Amino acid sequence: MLPYKDILVSEIDAGVVTIRLNRPDARNALRNRLLQEISGVLEQIARDDSVNAVVITGGEQVFAAGADIKEMAALDFIGVMSDPRPGYWRRIAQFPKPLIAAVNGFALGGGCELVMHADIVIAGDNAQFGQPEINLGIIPGAGGTQRLLRTVGKSMAMQMVLSGEFINAEQARTFGLVSEVTLPEMSYSRALALAKVIAEKPPVAVRLAKECLLNSYETTLDTGLKLERKAFTLLAATEDRNEGISAFMEKRRPIFKGQ
Ligand code: CAA
Repeated sequence: MLPYKDILVSEIDAGVVTIRLNRPDARNALRNRLLQEISGVLEQIARDDSVNAVVITGGEQVFAAGADIKEMAALDFIGVMSDPRPGYWRRIAQFPKPLIAAVNGFALGGGCELVMHADIVIAGDNAQFGQPEINLGIIPGAGGTQRLLRTVGKSMAMQMVLSGEFINAEQARTFGLVSEVTLPEMSYSRALALAKVIAEKPPVAVRLAKECLLNSYETTLDTGLKLERKAFTLLAATEDRNEGISAFMEKRRPIFKGQ
């Protein structure tokens, strides 16, 4: 992997790594290189047992203004057909550990779609979410017609995608796109604190819980319940389950090892 240019990656802190989008002059527009860097670092983190959760943020001013329109302008039909972006998005979607977004300012187009790749979203009260692609003569291309509808429901998804209008942080919370709204300067610290809480939980159980929850988008209730039961049963074979139950009985804090 090339040294990162478009993102800043923190040291590991209590099992948590922060990825910060770092193209402030372009409002963190998601050019290919930036998406490639995010997907690459997440793949590395997926293999690193010392990291149990990731926070992704754009800083206090802006999360991301979407795909890089200048880069996109250079692509014709064949260029879009062979665009590597869908592969980067797929790799981000496959990240198996908790991904928590701290969002301030604009999260538009691909920026809003990146938010929807996160498992939990904390928004500053200055955040604005939108899918303005329609104003460019295109439509969302990284889940904005699919994940958005499953998240906020049909009417609001249609409103956002067809009109290009933005919603604010409070609306996003009401519609389930965001779980908490904070002051802008608090969104990152809250996301980090939450990531650290999750990073202390038994990692195999966290991973299976995430898999089961996300799987509910893909399957019938019956199939989802079967998968949940299989995961629940599998966890009976882990040392962390014994540790969690023993710690409860012995009235002490559990120490989970990821086994
Ligand atoms: N791509 C490339 N450059 C962008 C950009 C983008 N998405 N958004 C902003 N920039 C650049 C601007 O061109 C400008 O650069 P220069 O200084 O070189 O002119 C710089 O960032 C600052 O932008 P503004 O002056 O416009 O900043 P602002 O604070 O007044 O407005 C904004 C911010 C509301 C985000 C506005 O820039 C904007 O509307 N951006 C475009 C949003 C958009 O349409 N996103 C959807 C993209 S398509 C997509 O996302 C599809 C997909 O993934 C599949």
